[in-house]
Amino acid sequence: MNRPKSKEIYDKMCQVIPGGVNSPVRAFYSMGMAPMVIDRGNKDMIYDADGHSYIDFCGSWGSLIHGHAHPSINEGIQSRLSKGLSFGITTAVEGELAAEIVKLIDSVEKIRFVSSGTEATMSAARLARGFTKKDYIIKFTGNYHGHADFFLVQAGSSLIEMCPSASSSGIPAEIVKYTISLPYNDIEACKAVFNHPAYADRIAAVILEPVAGNMGVVPATDEFIKFLSDETKKHGALLIFDEVITGFRVGLKGAQGIYKVKPDLTCFGKIIGGGLPVAAFGGRSDVMDCLAPLGAVFQAGTLSGNPIAMEAGLQSIKLVQKTGFYEDLQRKTDSFVQPIKDNIKQKKWNACIQQVGSMFTLFFGSKKVNNLEDAVAGDTRLYAQLFRALFNQGIYIPPSAHETWFISSVHEEKNLVKSRDAILTFMDENCG
Ligand SMILES: Cc1ncc(COP(=O)(O)O)c(C=O)c1O
Repeated sequence: MNRPKSKEIYDKMCQVIPGGVNSPVRAFYSMGMAPMVIDRGNKDMIYDADGHSYIDFCGSWGSLIHGHAHPSINEGIQSRLSKGLSFGITTAVEGELAAEIVKLIDSVEKIRFVSSGTEATMSAARLARGFTKKDYIIKFTGNYHGHADFFLVQAGSSLIEMCPSASSSGIPAEIVKYTISLPYNDIEACKAVFNHPAYADRIAAVILEPVAGNMGVVPATDEFIKFLSDETKKHGALLIFDEVITGFRVGLKGAQGIYKVKPDLTCFGKIIGGGLPVAAFGGRSDVMDCLAPLGAVFQAGTLSGNPIAMEAGLQSIKLVQKTGFYEDLQRKTDSFVQPIKDNIKQKKWNACIQQVGSMFTLFFGSKKVNNLEDAVAGDTRLYAQLFRALFNQGIYIPPSAHETWFISSVHEEKNLVKSRDAILTFMDENCG
């Protein structure tokens, strides 16, 4: 596809922005092609600087469950613009969004807003350490909790491809010495740590993506979640669900609603901002009340609870509460995914689709992916080939084999059919 204008803009950006991007995965390195430069979006479509259109299966990495430029979200934002953009002082709309989330998520009694998922998980971990007076954090390989130093140990998302040691330079060993990274869905590995005399009573928290989205979609098993819930209680550690992706994505009560577990703390992001930079962490009152100004755990932010962003989030959360919202989304996603799953089975292709609600990943080279080891064993070369084949037909899927595809409530039937048929044709030609 010819994209001279995009190339010109990107080349100029490379002179002033490292790699020309503000987040590494946008550079498309592992897809072996020049990155996109987007001009605008509408519903399920995005349009690049050269005027090409693409059906969007990424939705700003899962933020846009209502698609691009949703009228209710845009109107909400517009209604506030003339009142001023930011005060760094409390506005009523922060309380309105907080009340909606507290109403909907049983485990969340209090919540605090921040501006990115990275801030939410980082703050939740600090709070857990402050509350428990313990130091160790257990996380799981292939889960991604943003880019705070102490989480960058065998992390998922673009780190899988960008940094084979799955970490980052610039992080002193002392900073990660209290981070224990264990294989996902591996109860025995967790038991060994919880029963180890060096760690048993020193674990502040276990944090996980209950449905991992950052090594492709890999749901935790019921047994794994139950084990973590029981074990954290037994050892006086906190259980933190990172629902930055799954919150309001996999259902109105998030992944915790599916697993029927009450974590002590939950991190949110993406959908709760309706496309603007909003994230949050919340949970038990006794834990949340350890935050400043009530308690000794410091946490702050100039733009936290920004009223424009809160309004976008409020509209987004109102929309997901409409009757039948998640049922419709499930139907839409199933109609896209099921024929591909059926073909994989019938034609015995070495591939699988792992799906929870409207989030899913098509893995090549694996029949089932349970953890990071399985995910990286897949055929990423074939995925990159699929990416390029779809791209040339105006279909945009995540530019990494280890990310999640998302369907929004406004994906149109004809676009889903076109995309599904293009994938089936590609698989017929390349998977047989
Ligand atoms: C599960 C999870 N947690 C945390 C983050 C970090 O969020 P942010 O990119 O807003 O810092 C992400 C980002 O994709 C995520 O997927």
